[in-house]
Amino acid sequence: MSRDKLIELARTHLHHAVNGTVPLAETVVEIPVQNYFNKDRWKAEMELIFGRVPLVLGFSSELQKSGDYKAMEVCGVPLILVRNREGSVGAFVNMCSHRGAQILDEGKGRARSFSCPYHAWTYNLAGDLVAILDEQEFGEVDTSCLGLTPLNVEERVGIIWGSITPNTDLHLNEFLAGYDEYLESHDFANCHLVGQQTIEGPNWKVAYDGYLDFYHLPILHKDTFGPEYNNKSIFNNWGPHQRVQAPDHRLLDLVDIPEEEWSHTKLVSGVWTIFPHISIASFEAGGHIYMVSQLFPGADPDTSVTHQNFLATFEPNSEQKEEIARTMEFLRYVVAEEDYFTGNRIQKTVKTGAKSHFYFGRNEEGGQRFHRWTDALLEAQSDEDLLLLYKKGVG
Ligand code: FES
Ligand SMILES: [Fe+2]
Repeated sequence: MSRDKLIELARTHLHHAVNGTVPLAETVVEIPVQNYFNKDRWKAEMELIFGRVPLVLGFSSELQKSGDYKAMEVCGVPLILVRNREGSVGAFVNMCSHRGAQILDEGKGRARSFSCPYHAWTYNLAGDLVAILDEQEFGEVDTSCLGLTPLNVEERVGIIWGSITPNTDLHLNEFLAGYDEYLESHDFANCHLVGQQTIEGPNWKVAYDGYLDFYHLPILHKDTFGPEYNNKSIFNNWGPHQRVQAPDHRLLDLVDIPEEEWSHTKLVSGVWTIFPHISIASFEAGGHIYMVSQLFPGADPDTSVTHQNFLATFEPNSEQKEEIARTMEFLRYVVAEEDYFTGNRIQKTVKTGAKSHFYFGRNEEGGQRFHRWTDALLEAQSDEDLLLLYKKGVG
């Protein structure tokens, strides 16, 4: 089913490639430069976007067995993901019920239970408080109410989606708007996590604008991969999530091949974004691998942190591992030294007062849509507003 849908998309894209056309947005859109550094705006984005929408917190392949956990910090919230005894993934705020110590250090591991490093209160994999040190002397408390605070989390298409705010519904079906059917074709559930690296960057929107932008590829990346690309792009969207495809020579390769023989690699090529912070791109490194960039806002409006996750569609041998390592280094260089180097310098220009607006052209519909969604989310006050927005969209 998803292959048919991917073919349908590729057919349309190929049509554009053959005719040398691209769909364009109706108008040029202006975005206030304030949006990239204003503190109040940024706080609202943290609360009303990152604090409410389902975020990609990890991958099924990161937590394979019962007891596998990952502790991480997202937008200032320390949290724990863990695969429990029943095989499903749970999430908790990484905060002890006694006096708030963080129970786990950031990182991954396998455990049978979690013991707090401060006074050794102990929790099981379901987050229940199962032991209090010197319980008699401590005095009576209702342990049934003193488990770790759960966060809503759901595993779907090999991705662990979750909220960083307690008691927040994910509304994942409405949020994904059918996009999961396409993401399923990447088969992340059966991929091997073969590498992770972290890069610091500018304001999350400066960084994210770049992931939706092919207009810059042959220019900014002229010394690396840019010359292989043209600067055209076609955007498809499912709610706020967008796939960006280049109608270039690689797509034109399909012209003489019958549709049923179009390779899976070609069908999932391009960039697949998941609003508000994920970009998925394909590379060849001893075989087909995905780089899933997981972008989180930093501690202030001027910073962000990006985890590049490398998921291979095959189990690599030592030779392939070396090739993956080289590709990882190349992609670290491209993103850190070309994209975020530029982004960090933009982060300075936005505050000069020299310009009031940026311009997103008719050929930059992806960026236009991304900013429409961020604005709309800031306007959606209640949970009902949010659901309505997910259902109706912003065009
Ligand atoms: S803060 Fe965790 S046991 Fe005291
Ligand atoms: Fe780039």
